[in-house]
Amino acid sequence: MTETQSANAYLEGPYAPVAEEIIARDLVATSGEIPKDLVGMFVRNGANPKLAPKGRYHWFDGDGMVHAIQLEGGKATYRNKYVRTKGLLAEIEAGEPLWTGILEPPDFSNSRGPFKNTANTDLVFHGGKLLALWWQSGIPYQLNIADLETMGQERFGKNHKPGISAHPKVDPRNGEMRFMTFSVFAPYLSYGVIDATGELAHYTPIHSVPGARYQHDIAITEQFTILMDLPMYPDPEMLAVGKSRVKFYRDRPARFGLIPRLGTDADVRWFEAEPCYVYHTINAWEEGNEVVMVGCRIADPLMGDPSNPQLSHAVPSIGLQRLEPYLHEWRFNLETGKTTERKLSDVLVEFPRMDNRLLGVKSRYSFNPKVAHASTVIFEGLVKHDFSNNTEIVHLYPEGWSAGEAVVCPREGSTGEDDAYVVSFALEHATGTSELWIWSAKDFGAPIARVPVPQRVPAGYHAWWISSSDISKNTVTA
Ligand SMILES: [Fe+2]
Repeated sequence: MTETQSANAYLEGPYAPVAEEIIARDLVATSGEIPKDLVGMFVRNGANPKLAPKGRYHWFDGDGMVHAIQLEGGKATYRNKYVRTKGLLAEIEAGEPLWTGILEPPDFSNSRGPFKNTANTDLVFHGGKLLALWWQSGIPYQLNIADLETMGQERFGKNHKPGISAHPKVDPRNGEMRFMTFSVFAPYLSYGVIDATGELAHYTPIHSVPGARYQHDIAITEQFTILMDLPMYPDPEMLAVGKSRVKFYRDRPARFGLIPRLGTDADVRWFEAEPCYVYHTINAWEEGNEVVMVGCRIADPLMGDPSNPQLSHAVPSIGLQRLEPYLHEWRFNLETGKTTERKLSDVLVEFPRMDNRLLGVKSRYSFNPKVAHASTVIFEGLVKHDFSNNTEIVHLYPEGWSAGEAVVCPREGSTGEDDAYVVSFALEHATGTSELWIWSAKDFGAPIARVPVPQRVPAGYHAWWISSSDISKNTVTA
């Protein structure tokens, strides 16, 4: 028997929202010590619905709330705050939800738009600004790193209204940020580059993506950005009559498009691969006449698909999404136009992270939360994967605990890829006790420090490490 989800599973237990916005200073480790050379700010976004949802709730619907830990001198300061989006402020003023979530039919007649930009998904520090980003593409919201107050919408100096999707990639070589934007209306996918100062430098439609697609991530190499056209998307005939019904077209290939860094649609080379869905890439790089990409691949991404394999264990789901992701490598041959691909591990992992200093060039390690065989998405451990020989070190959390995305934080004076710490928020489900866990990236195993946080930090999404050097580049003050 597999576990089944309750109707509101993503509003309960580890996912239940918190109402309070607090500040707690001078936090210290109760196990181990906060390393003195770990200096910066760990920020994590997530869904935290302010009002009781209208209609069925999907985990991706909730309002964005950011939890932050600033680390310096072996001490920590915690704070959390809602992202005060236009949508959230309008709903607070109205005293009721003004949108339904993605499990309900979209209301294309809503004068505020069919979807609420919750800015709940991702965070990036770029051009001296901390930005909260939304998975469906939207105008980002800038947050003040001193107090997490929402500063307003970010339009990149060019009144850029389409916004950007979650998971832009900051090129460590030139400071540019490459991104994609997608829509249920044409152009269905667009590609852009924001320069190191935070100004839009390039933005171009990708017409070779022929319809509305569920986009989520991209990857970059030194010369190319890798775009995706994956065969899980809304039925075009239903969309044409204003309805949304997602299907996985398992008879169609996955397509990965290599676009030169400042290229246009005419320059994109599409490579076909086995059908799948990909939420998150880890890295990509150029290697001889190939472009290599590694990430988490899901072969059967939809619940209720009669072609899915019958399993004796639970596979997590979020609404219609079925999460059974494995590490995977794709190699796109620039001479032959062919793709070769292989599964790299049998361990279920998602929300992978690596050392962003090596984004776009060959990297060796990633740190990947281990997906539990449960009905909802919960991470029961952390895996250090070594791509040089595809070996892994698996650290399993104590019974009853989970943790979220684990970000690589180079230590002050770091000289190498895993000369770093890894940090994440952890949660004991039964008690609601939350802690910041700090691992050594090099000597990976159990956390080297555990720092109690005086508030429950619900399970959430993506995180970012703002280094001490980036904090000094911050463009706003409290
Ligand atoms: Fe994501």
